[in-house]
Amino acid sequence: MATTLKVGVIGVGGIARTHMPGWAASEHAEVVAGSDINPLALEEWGRMHGVAKLSTDPADLFRDPDIDIIDICTPNMYHAPQAIAALEAGKHVICEKPLAPTPRDIRKMIEARDQSGKKLMTAQHFRFKGNSQAMKREIGRGVLGDIYHARSWMLRRNGFHHTPSFVLKQHSGGGPTIDIGVHVLDLTLWLMGNPTPAAVSGVAIAPLAHLEGQFAAWHNQLAPKEWDVEDFAAAFVRFDNGATLVLEVSWLLHHDVEGEDMQMWLYGTQGGCHWPKCEFLETDYATRQLSNRTLRLTKDRMEPHALECVEFARAVAEGAPSPVPAEESLQVLAILDGIYRSQREGREVRIEAE
Ligand SMILES: NC(=O)c1ccc[n+]([C@@H]2O[C@H](COP(=O)([O-])OP(=O)(O)OC[C@H]3O[C@@H](n4cnc5c(N)ncnc54)[C@H](O)[C@@H]3O)[C@@H](O)[C@H]2O)c1
Repeated sequence: MATTLKVGVIGVGGIARTHMPGWAASEHAEVVAGSDINPLALEEWGRMHGVAKLSTDPADLFRDPDIDIIDICTPNMYHAPQAIAALEAGKHVICEKPLAPTPRDIRKMIEARDQSGKKLMTAQHFRFKGNSQAMKREIGRGVLGDIYHARSWMLRRNGFHHTPSFVLKQHSGGGPTIDIGVHVLDLTLWLMGNPTPAAVSGVAIAPLAHLEGQFAAWHNQLAPKEWDVEDFAAAFVRFDNGATLVLEVSWLLHHDVEGEDMQMWLYGTQGGCHWPKCEFLETDYATRQLSNRTLRLTKDRMEPHALECVEFARAVAEGAPSPVPAEESLQVLAILDGIYRSQREGREVRIEAE
């Protein structure tokens, strides 16, 4: 008989909704409690999911002895304090991305995790997509040789965010660098085998968000003067194994895309590959043949936001390692934080990712 781990969800907004099918599908876990500072949203969520234990104070969930896992789905700036409080109360924690907006916060979370002996996972759902998993397996066979360069981007043409939790630094910690850069960078580093970042040169600027009468007016939402995060960032990263990476992220860009353009290329000594196409490019030097092949994929069995919850519950129940270790999120945030530092200092900056 499988253990049933009891889950408490904190922050029952948009992303929490995508986790619920995962908890419902898990053979190891069930959601028994929820917390949100918005009582109306909390009541509605409780009714929708048949969850009776509801509190506007997350501390009630931390001190509840019946709860084993805390699922943190609040805005970025609350991740570290809530995760640390939950770990100190003896709970396992799965936390939405970014694990925290700064490497300093993540180091504190790792310390709390190590002192508690509990598990901590970042909800980096792109790793749980079938194409990502298939590419990770294929790259793991060594088909690329040594990976020496990557190109990654996640770009939106008109992705104006109007909620304070995204465009005010006090809630988000940053703009698209933190919000979507964290997705594409985490996936790229994971596929590269998580090399240690050494230095970054970057820009993080807002050339479009503040233009009078443009995107903000179009969306008739938050006034541009209140928006204090960037809308565009670009970076060149060096790793200590000699590999390099070029990264571009934006919420607003005159780029030919409807919705979102997220892609990456990895280049190695034996081959290259492209995400999300799952295309692998190889060269047979003996016959002088260039070839391309695309991995065959089966249909994903579950949405990745749900699957990450299933996998976390399994790891907790079986005593397996965290499916997305906090140390890997520390590398990601060390680079993203380096982009902001490089923008401030106007030069390449060193990165401490440990
Ligand atoms: N993985 C993804 O694809 C993805 C997509 C969107 C958002 N996210 C992440 O999820 C998190 C939440 O984003 P969202 O889009 O769900 O935002 P949201 O605004 O829809 O929901 C956040 C909820 O948290 C509540 N809240 C705010 N402060 C709180 C606090 N201190 N304690 C308890 N509840 C609090 C709000 O009332 C709200 O209901 C962010 O960290 C974001 O980066 C991830």
